[in-house]
Amino acid sequence: MSNISVIGAGYVGLSTAACFAELGHNITLIEIDPEKLTALKNGLMPISEPGLNEMWQRNKQEDRINVTNNHMDGLLGAEFAFIAVGTPAASNGKPDLKWVRLAAKNIAEAASGPMVIVIKSTVPIGTAEIIDRIVSYNDRNGHSLPVVSNPEFLREGAAIYDFMHPSRVVIGSSSQEAIDVVSKLYKPLDSPIITCDNRTAEMSKYACNAFLATRISFMNEIALLCDEYSVDIVKVAKIMGLDPRFGSGYLNAGLGWGGSCLPKDLKGLIHMAKSRGFPARLLRAVQQINQQQVYIVIRKLHWLLGNLEGKTIGILGLAFKPNSDDVREARSLLIISLLENEGCRIKAYDPDPTAMQNAGKLKIDVTYCANAYEVAKDSDAIVLVTEWEEFKELDMPAMASMMNQPIIVDGRNLYDPDEMIQAGFLYEGIGRCSQRTQETRIGIVQ
Ligand code: UGA
Repeated sequence: MSNISVIGAGYVGLSTAACFAELGHNITLIEIDPEKLTALKNGLMPISEPGLNEMWQRNKQEDRINVTNNHMDGLLGAEFAFIAVGTPAASNGKPDLKWVRLAAKNIAEAASGPMVIVIKSTVPIGTAEIIDRIVSYNDRNGHSLPVVSNPEFLREGAAIYDFMHPSRVVIGSSSQEAIDVVSKLYKPLDSPIITCDNRTAEMSKYACNAFLATRISFMNEIALLCDEYSVDIVKVAKIMGLDPRFGSGYLNAGLGWGGSCLPKDLKGLIHMAKSRGFPARLLRAVQQINQQQVYIVIRKLHWLLGNLEGKTIGILGLAFKPNSDDVREARSLLIISLLENEGCRIKAYDPDPTAMQNAGKLKIDVTYCANAYEVAKDSDAIVLVTEWEEFKELDMPAMASMMNQPIIVDGRNLYDPDEMIQAGFLYEGIGRCSQRTQETRIGIVQ
């Protein structure tokens, strides 16, 4: 079993730490944020992630996890140092490497022997070489400190499952010895291990996230056409997904992609392209489609309600996706701000209390509700933004009967349009067709 230090207690760092501990390794997590550190020291998990807390507490009790803010202590005796710090995008999209650079410097200064430095953070192509130079400059003892690029492909909300059941593990380095020892760490996971150079590993991460974003934006564009031509995008996606050349993932049309990764990484890749004088036309179009997608909610509400001034709109779901408390770049926030501009009153509920708290910290004028029924009560329309399972189980006739006007814009195509109409709703999905809505729309347009 190895001694592994993980720097950064975000989604990736915490999941990596917990899962490697679960595989039997001794983990030291290094986090400098006092709030996160105190929470972890007091046995509290700073993020909601299914299965993470249980795994964390179990391994902590069995003494396989330690937490510190001191790099010297935290890296003492470490054989591996995983860098899992944030790389937020600057306003021009350029990923900020300040935390990655600092981690590299701290590792080099604290290294008490040979150690493999593993970059898990998503970093621009060529970063491993920069890290290598920072490490060589700051390592006064001449230890062997090879740099490995090991991008993470886990999804928030499924982080533990994805870490333990990866579709592939990518290990890039110029040191074969380093590749071999890092490969050994992942061997118990029984997944394909792709070894390559650092740049290939770095690019593969950006390419994957950009491709996922592209698929979704593609489907969202087709969904707009489906709306125009009375075609159901859900059926179209099913037909497409059965083609083994495509696969069925990431074909769900909706309000677009958000979160801390897809938007940031697409911006990062566009920035990289721009810095080499390359226009990245497709990537920009993918981004533009996503930016425009939320306006569809306002358009649909206008069709159905006319002027929105003074109307009460209920929002179901604040987190950027189900099973997550994360509201970073959440579509809910954009929609709320558009509705605020229209002069609406806004009520909202998310099944994850932390997601509501996270939204509550932002400057938005929202009445937070205890459940979906409270959102529905006296609302003029509901917008489903996050497809939580809980929203599937709602008593929809009861919801409809509580509203001023039984209107729902299903931003994630969670519901069956016919069932919603039977429940008494005027239903609008994204790229779906329902007879009643078609008639209403024609009525309004005329
Ligand atoms: C994404 C990638 O899926 C992970 O592989 C990657 O490791 C991670 O970014 C990262 O770079 O750290 P994540 O941000 O957790 O994971 O979220 P996703 O599950 O990919 O969803 C992203 C957004 O796309 C969400 O807003 C979701 O609602 C939306 N989405 C997803 C759609 O609109 N349609 C779909 O068919 C799928």
